[in-house]
Amino acid sequence: MSQRVTLHGRDFEVMIPADKIDEVVARVAERLNSDYASCERPPIFVCVLSGAYMFLADLVRKLTFDHEITFVQISSYEGTQSTGVVRRKLGIDFDVEGRDLIIVEDIVDTGTSIDHMVDYLQSLAPRSVEVCTLFFKPDNYRYDRPIKYCAMNIGNEFIVGYGLDYDQLGRNLKDIYVIANE
Ligand code: IMP
Ligand code: MG
Repeated sequence: MSQRVTLHGRDFEVMIPADKIDEVVARVAERLNSDYASCERPPIFVCVLSGAYMFLADLVRKLTFDHEITFVQISSYEGTQSTGVVRRKLGIDFDVEGRDLIIVEDIVDTGTSIDHMVDYLQSLAPRSVEVCTLFFKPDNYRYDRPIKYCAMNIGNEFIVGYGLDYDQLGRNLKDIYVIANE
């Protein structure tokens, strides 16, 4: 396995290996398994495209309770910078009133995207809305809303791999990469 990749002419090196990702995903899945074990109606996992698709796929295979999945899409990033403006490209087109929703995100950075998503889902009158993110950058987070399920905290570095992209490239990488020191 190569420890370095080049994406759009920029060098990245491994920061979090695949087995560590699997370990933290398993840990967050265990918490969900215990919290949602006796849920009356199956909760709905709302996967935020595109970045969270790989996390969702691995997460749900570790879940032991009935659940549904659906997908939403927003965009706020260009290159390695958040634009601060969130656009919703794909919403929910069925009734989620009274349902338990769990947003599945790849990474919560400033929190702008997740804040927008929680407000949007709350407007659909669900019973509950929780957030389950693979990565969280607590130093960059600008909101008070607690993030209930977080697999791993990281610093403010830009990462790529395991669903996360650098201008659409690198999502297929099994490990998480960070911009390499020259
Ligand atoms: P926020 O709105 O600032 O919290 O940014 C959240 C979104 O930006 C995530 O859903 C990602 O799509 C993207 N993002 C934030 N940090 C990174 C990163 O380090 N690598 C790749 N995408 C990121
Ligand atoms: Mg995202």
